Amino acid sequence: MKIFFLICSLLFTLVINAQSSVSVIPIPKVLEEKEGHFKPGNKLSIVAGDATLAPLVQHAGQLFTEAAGVKNIEQPRSPKQGLKNAVYLQLDSQAVKHEEGYVLDVTKTSITLKAKTPRGIFYGLQTLTQLIPVDKDKSIPAVHIEDEPRFAWRGMMFDNCRHMFSVDFIKRFIDQLAYHKLNKFHWHLTEDQGWRIEIKKYPRLQTVAAYRNGTQYGPNRQKDVDSIRYGGYYTQEQIREVVAYAASKYIEVIPEIEMPGHSVAAITAYPHLACNPVSFETGKPHEVRKVWGVSKDIYCAGNDTVFAFLQDVLTEVMQLFPSRYIHIGGDEAPHDAWKKCPKCQQRMKEEGLKNEAELQSWFIRRMEGFINAHNKKLIGWEEIMQGGLTPNATVHSWLGTKSGLQASKMGNDVIMSPYSHLYFDGYQAEPAIEPLAIGYYTPLETVYSFEPRHPDMSDKDAEHLLGAQANLWTEFIRTEPYFQYMVFPRMDALAEITWSPKEKKDYADFEKRLQTQLKRYDKLNINYRIPVPVLTATYDADSTATITLQNRAGSGVVRYAINEEKVTEASPVYKAPLAIKKGQTLRFAAFPSNGRQSSTDYFPKKPRRK
Ligand code: ACM
Ligand code: ZN
Repeated sequence: MKIFFLICSLLFTLVINAQSSVSVIPIPKVLEEKEGHFKPGNKLSIVAGDATLAPLVQHAGQLFTEAAGVKNIEQPRSPKQGLKNAVYLQLDSQAVKHEEGYVLDVTKTSITLKAKTPRGIFYGLQTLTQLIPVDKDKSIPAVHIEDEPRFAWRGMMFDNCRHMFSVDFIKRFIDQLAYHKLNKFHWHLTEDQGWRIEIKKYPRLQTVAAYRNGTQYGPNRQKDVDSIRYGGYYTQEQIREVVAYAASKYIEVIPEIEMPGHSVAAITAYPHLACNPVSFETGKPHEVRKVWGVSKDIYCAGNDTVFAFLQDVLTEVMQLFPSRYIHIGGDEAPHDAWKKCPKCQQRMKEEGLKNEAELQSWFIRRMEGFINAHNKKLIGWEEIMQGGLTPNATVHSWLGTKSGLQASKMGNDVIMSPYSHLYFDGYQAEPAIEPLAIGYYTPLETVYSFEPRHPDMSDKDAEHLLGAQANLWTEFIRTEPYFQYMVFPRMDALAEITWSPKEKKDYADFEKRLQTQLKRYDKLNINYRIPVPVLTATYDADSTATITLQNRAGSGVVRYAINEEKVTEASPVYKAPLAIKKGQTLRFAAFPSNGRQSSTDYFPKKPRRK
């Protein structure tokens, strides 16, 4: 019996150790841990039978140099089998059926990665990166992994108009999308507050529309506005560079050129594009918008030169972006100016349109004809459904998921991005402890809880569900560190809801794996949001609370302060449950080993005002 218990406990230890050594996000479809480890050592051969895999051999070599410190990487010309310490990359459409799938076997002597396509090999390599431990010992646990994505559309949008980011930073962002097996980068390039893409035929888009004479920096649109000139744009050469870089990581870049709303910057450069030569809102000359929100100044639907302008713009855009899709926005376009505009009213009469919603639909249809004639597909935010939806348009559901459901029932393709779950500009915890963000609340757990398939979707409807996408609007996101703070680790949750099988979703397990992921982020100098410690309270008879704090930062300590405003590096380290009496306030924060500090949380929480 004793022996039995000994074996049981040994097995248990083995399982626990194995669990702690493998930590992959997004979690693969099948992951079996095997006995033993592959030790990369100092010398490694990377062998690929197919010449098309040459860039991926390079990628794998870089990966082992950077993550495992391997000094000597060989690439034997002839694909010899049976080498010691070798990584085999193989295209094999028998072993792997899915275009983006892969099978990965790590044994004590070799690593074999098979896929139907180079893209699948690329995703297998992303998983392999995560199998290499972050600490000193670079032994890779033996595993058998079979993996493929749940959805074809796994994306992120970022708004480059409210704030500019360097090309280099955008490339690092693309690296991270790829690392998370995301494959769509939706690039929001035109807005009320700035036009960011060079269009050679319209130079005033560069000299006028790309700059604003001030920026709203706080929540108050009247008071919190500076008068510092701000702006810039990406040259066509830079755009090509970003698109090519993304393509090398199997990411499609989808440009968004907004119409008919969110177009004040273009209208300022070319006022004839609006219904009035002066602003409908202010009665003053048009001006690139300094404050956030929705403007009533939109493109005129009754003026043919607007369509000529937009077609010229899209002609240049389509030459820059090989993407199958062009996103035309279509959201938040108030029709007040159209109601008062003789040209718009005349258009409605001529086209037999009953109201301005139908005029908007007509506007989108006209542009869609142009886009389709160039062999591209149109995506629009869900407002393109108002006034009638065309059969080919892809609907981007953001106000919720109902429009997505409805569009899928009409046979239109759908991408889910409800702001309630997938807007990464929202708060990650209660606003009192976080830097300024937009008013919605989208903490990590909420992102993780999102299910892209609406429960009322039939299997047939679900064929039109392309996938899901998170959006980062940058009104209050001015700096690169804050950008990363808002994106990570929510991007991990996004990866798991779009790539992993639904049955594999498990938040507690995800949180555990995340702790290792955060250490990887430290190595990459990513300014992720450090999870605040988790607090549990029990109360005794005189209302004294016994507080337990749990560190979720993956390393370091929790520090606390009682009845003091700040928790600092000098504050005591939490070691055992704390007794907090009635009237006392406890503040606490995580101090991981990266030298940073989480947001400071507090107890007791103030009762919410009704
Ligand atoms: C949006 O958030 N206005 C699409
Ligand atoms: Zn008009």
